[in-house]
Amino acid sequence: MKDLHFDYTKAVSSERVAAIRPTAEAAMNVLKSGNGAGNDFLGWLNLPHDIEAQISDIESTARLLREECEIIVCIGIGGSYLGAKAVNEALLNSFAQLEGSKPQIVYAGQNIGEDYLYELQNLLRNRKFSIISISKSGTTTEPALAFRLLKTQLEQQQGKDAAKRLIVCITDRKRGALRTLATQEGYKTYVIEDNIGGRFSVLSPVGLLPIACAGFDIRSLIEGAKRMQDICNLPFDENPALQYAASRNILYREEGKKVEMLVNFHPKLHYVSEWWKQLYGESEGKNGKGIFPASADFTTDLHSMGQYIQDGERHLMETVLSVEQPNHEVIFPHDEQNLDGLNFLAGKRVDEVNKMAELGTMLAHVDGGVPNMKFTLPCLNEYYLGQMIYMFEFACGISGYMLEVNPFNQPGVEAYKKNMFALLDKPGYEEESKAIRARL
Ligand code: PA5
Repeated sequence: MKDLHFDYTKAVSSERVAAIRPTAEAAMNVLKSGNGAGNDFLGWLNLPHDIEAQISDIESTARLLREECEIIVCIGIGGSYLGAKAVNEALLNSFAQLEGSKPQIVYAGQNIGEDYLYELQNLLRNRKFSIISISKSGTTTEPALAFRLLKTQLEQQQGKDAAKRLIVCITDRKRGALRTLATQEGYKTYVIEDNIGGRFSVLSPVGLLPIACAGFDIRSLIEGAKRMQDICNLPFDENPALQYAASRNILYREEGKKVEMLVNFHPKLHYVSEWWKQLYGESEGKNGKGIFPASADFTTDLHSMGQYIQDGERHLMETVLSVEQPNHEVIFPHDEQNLDGLNFLAGKRVDEVNKMAELGTMLAHVDGGVPNMKFTLPCLNEYYLGQMIYMFEFACGISGYMLEVNPFNQPGVEAYKKNMFALLDKPGYEEESKAIRARL
């Protein structure tokens, strides 16, 4: 059986990789031995094995919600939502909503958009829906606000007792307002362990429950992650996480490539890039350092970002997420009149055109001074997404240590919250409130 494959040869030479290899291996050893900064957040390293005992329970909760509800609302932000959204969007039929497949999975608590919440409340009116509320801290404003609104609506529509059966909370074992609320109301809960940070939690109930609710095979996802955990123990030449961390750090340190674009040629991978951006952005962007994670969906964005990538400031590196085999076949038809001049494509699969666009883009970008790394997923399914998730997480830990930052904290995220609470006159923020108002 094939595995996810990484190719750095269009980005860096083997001599340069050989030179940085000891640094990458040393960073990996720090990660594995738990001797680095943030080492109290390494619970994700063995999660593919540790989570097994909970899979049946997660599946049975998902079954109940799927059977009883037309719509399942997943509430969460950042690491408490992006992993599940990435996997679900990658696997769902692109037109699932229009096809009316049930249950529909929708997301809330990832913004504070009043119109978004108004429209969601309207959608849920007189529909049987359930809520999965996910917040490790249990205190994050965006999901807490959405949870209060939707819980109130669910209780009004179903009655308080019936609503209880349709609410699941995923949060800290003991701390936080969500834990207090869930205990008091008697909701079904799952625990996010202390040693697993939000953006490394997709293989915990945080990601697995919403993915199972969408009808996908979480056992296969975990099998893929397990396989990648084994691969991540292999030597450099067979270890894509190590090679990726090494290559991107060479480009950053030695060539001034400050921005990495994760690009795909598969529209369903859009949210995989969003998940990846959070993983790398929050893990590496600190102490004035870090590769800026950006993304694009090709070929769509070649018609918007293509000019800049080809010809703009040369601070970009590119990492392609390529899918070797599509899950379906579409053959391009012959046309007698050939008025559009496309008969040279007749009889070919659409994917052949896409793959030539991918190859052509890679060559053009390399010629234009954009080093090109490439991951190939044999196909888009739970197993290979599981491999990819674990690989990116493991590489992120290595890369963060190569940059000499703590990849497992996110102190910078607090700054906007402090200002927002001060501006909203939250009790306890009186001093900040005075100070901030004086600046306005
Ligand atoms: O990766 C992280 O730790 C963050 O992105 C969090 O997941 C995000 O801020 C949400 O936090 P919480 O789950 O505590 O609501």
